[in-house]
Amino acid sequence: MMRALVYGGPRQMALEDRPRPDIEAPGDAIVRVTKTTICGTDLHILKGDVATCLPGRVLGHEGVGVIEDVGSAVTTFKAGDRVLISCISSCGRCQDCRRGLWSHCATGGWILGNTIDGAQADYVRIPHAETSLYPIPAGVDEEAMVMLSDILPTGFECGVLNGKVSPGSTVAIVGSGPIGLAALLTAQLYSPAEIIMIDLDDHRLEVARQFGATRTINSGDGKAAEAVMALTGACGVDTAIEAVGTPATFELCEDLVASGGVIANIGVHGTPVQLHLERLWSQNIAITTRLVDAVSTQMLLNTVRSGKIDPSPLITHHFSLDDILSAYETFGRAAETKALKVIISP
Ligand SMILES: NC(=O)c1ccc[n+]([C@@H]2O[C@H](COP(=O)([O-])OP(=O)(O)OC[C@H]3O[C@@H](n4cnc5c(N)ncnc54)[C@H](O)[C@@H]3O)[C@@H](O)[C@H]2O)c1
Ligand SMILES: [Zn+2]
Ligand SMILES: [Zn+2]
Repeated sequence: MMRALVYGGPRQMALEDRPRPDIEAPGDAIVRVTKTTICGTDLHILKGDVATCLPGRVLGHEGVGVIEDVGSAVTTFKAGDRVLISCISSCGRCQDCRRGLWSHCATGGWILGNTIDGAQADYVRIPHAETSLYPIPAGVDEEAMVMLSDILPTGFECGVLNGKVSPGSTVAIVGSGPIGLAALLTAQLYSPAEIIMIDLDDHRLEVARQFGATRTINSGDGKAAEAVMALTGACGVDTAIEAVGTPATFELCEDLVASGGVIANIGVHGTPVQLHLERLWSQNIAITTRLVDAVSTQMLLNTVRSGKIDPSPLITHHFSLDDILSAYETFGRAAETKALKVIISP
C-alpha cells in the first residue's frame, strides 16, 4: 500500500491508503516520488472548475523521483534513475504530438492528477515514460527541478511565447502567483523594456520586484487599468498575460492590451468571461489560449542548470506527505502565509 492525496469532489480531499500502482502498458514507468508540489490548478479542481477530474482521483501533476520499475518497451530509463516528471504525458508519435501539440496527445496530454492518478503520493505510474520523463543531471538542485514539471514551461509557453514578448516591448502580467512569476522569469530571456506585475497581494508583488518586475500594481482599488495606461503613455501593453483564471482578470487584460498587442491567457477558467468585441474588434489584437505542451522543458532545464534562471526562491515551504493537508491549507491561504511553491516530500 501507499499514501495518496485523493480528491473527493468539490472542497473535499483526504490522505488515504491506496494500492501501489503497477505497470499497465509496456511504455509505463513506476516512479517513487521524492518531491512533489501543489499547483493553482489543484485549487481549481477543488473548487469544481475542472470537470474532467472525478472524485476518487489522486491529485498532483508535478514532481521528481526515482524510477522503481519500467515496462518492457522502455529502453532509455531503468530502475534507480532520477527523473523529472512532466505535467504533460505525450506518446511522441500521434498526429498531435508530431506537430508539437503534446498537450493534445491522443493517449496523453494533461492526464496526470486529472484523468489518471497523479504524483501527490508515494508512487505514481507515468505512461509514455520515455517521452514524459527527463533525466535529472547530476549535481542540480532537485527542488528547483520541481519548478520544471509545470510552472516554468507554462509561464514560458502559454505566456511568453504565445504573448510574443520581444526586445523593447511592454508586458503586463496579471497574477503574481507561481505561474505569473514563472512568466516573469522567462520573459526576461527576451529583454522586454517593461514588465508590470499586477496582483492583490503585496507580498507577491514584492517577490515580483525581486524577480525583475520593472513596476508592480496592487489592483485591489479597481484602478489597475488606469495605472497601466499612465505608465505606458496611454497606449497599453504589447503583451497582457492572464495568470489567474477569473473573469475579472481576463477582462482587465482586455483593458490593458495595446493596439496590435496580444492577450495571452494562461489561467484555467471555470466560468464564461465577457469579450468586449464592441471595443476590441478594431484594435488588431490577438487572443491566445494554451494548455502547456511542455515542449520547452529540456531547454528550460538547461537554463536552470546553467544558472541563467534560478527558480529556487519560489520555494517557500516544506511539508512531509503526512502533512499534505496542511500544505494545501498553507498554499490556499497564500496572502496570509506568504506561500509560493510548497515542496512535499513523501
Ligand atoms: N494553461 C495551463 O496549461 C496552465 C498550467 C498551470 C496552471 N494554470 C493556471 O494558471 C493560473 C495561475 O496558477 P498559480 O499556480 O500561479 O495560481 P495561484 O492561485 O497561486 O495564483 C493566482 C494569483 O492571482 C492573484 N489574483 C487573484 N485574483 C486577482 C485579481 N482579481 N486581480 C489580480 N490578481 C488576482 C492571487 O492573489 C494570486 O497571487 C491558475 O488559473 C492555474 O490553474 C494553467
Ligand atoms: Zn499545474
Ligand atoms: Zn501523442
